Amino acid sequence: MSAERVATAVAQPNIALVKYWGKRDDRLILPHTDSLSMTLDVFPTTTTVRLAPAWVGDSATLNGASLTGEALRRISAFLALLRELAGRTEAAVVHTTNTVPTGAGLASSASGFAALAVAGAAAYGLDLDATALSRLARRGSGSACRSIHGGFVIWYADAGAGVTPDLRSYAEPLGEARLDPALVIASVDTGPKVASSRDAMRHTVDTSPLYRAWTDACRADAVDMRAALRRGDLDAVGEIAERNALGMHATMLAARPPVRYLSPATLAVLDAVEQLRCDGVSAYATMDAGPNVKVLCHRADAPVVAEAVRPAAPSAPVVIAGRGRGARLSTEAAP
Ligand code: DP6
Repeated sequence: MSAERVATAVAQPNIALVKYWGKRDDRLILPHTDSLSMTLDVFPTTTTVRLAPAWVGDSATLNGASLTGEALRRISAFLALLRELAGRTEAAVVHTTNTVPTGAGLASSASGFAALAVAGAAAYGLDLDATALSRLARRGSGSACRSIHGGFVIWYADAGAGVTPDLRSYAEPLGEARLDPALVIASVDTGPKVASSRDAMRHTVDTSPLYRAWTDACRADAVDMRAALRRGDLDAVGEIAERNALGMHATMLAARPPVRYLSPATLAVLDAVEQLRCDGVSAYATMDAGPNVKVLCHRADAPVVAEAVRPAAPSAPVVIAGRGRGARLSTEAAP
């Protein structure tokens, strides 16, 4: 970093195989349950943070367009946290280039806040290890803490060790995972989502009579998923991921009023995935806060899976993703 105090970082999205859906603390972003994910090798976000005199105020652009309103407020609140940790007062000018369709349930906030945490910490002169960076990214968006690391990752709701709840909730790589699968991304709709995951999550916790059952199932799924990843058992990993995603959506559908991200096109992709399994291909679906479907499969089967889901997802190219790297500093500034 130059004396000018500028830093750039790159981060990729992650897809949860055991989902995070619900906070026990909205301010600190502490989840009710552990979640497990795979960081992808596609859709990088590049963020440059440049410090500016305090009187200028924070500003941010996304793909060249100035951010205002809630989007800027969230970034500015995160920068305020960095300033508090660093004991500095400068404002920040943030430029982000995002290659994932924003707001379409493909976790753009995960790569976004992971990149902002790494670039922001460096610009403000904070020397943080990966665990501390994951805690920091968590404060921007929960799922962002997992994109700090590459490959398979666990985010602990409460890891047990550490004096405060904040210190006890962080992500770390699952070194024992013995799997190198593909995730085939069928984008059935790249438009903005019907409700932000933040609002929908809170509403689900507050009103869904199934919420308690969801957290119980999720805890069991996290234990089973760890064991399946350790064994390198793709079918078990896929079955757990699919049942977990459907359980999350069922819990949302039971909220009052319901939260429904899944569309007819989503269900058409799910039909295609089921047909693949009938034909002997190991393929399993997961969906986040949007209608798009990610299909877990062996890398060798990815072209066949992509071909099978394409008719149900004609609006955007089907993307084949693999395991990607964690967030890191970069020498190339966001354009
Ligand atoms: C469905 O991390 O976007 O993708 O913490 O409120 O920013 P906030 O929510 P966010 O929620 C992600 C929800 C999910 C599941 C997951 O990634 O675990």
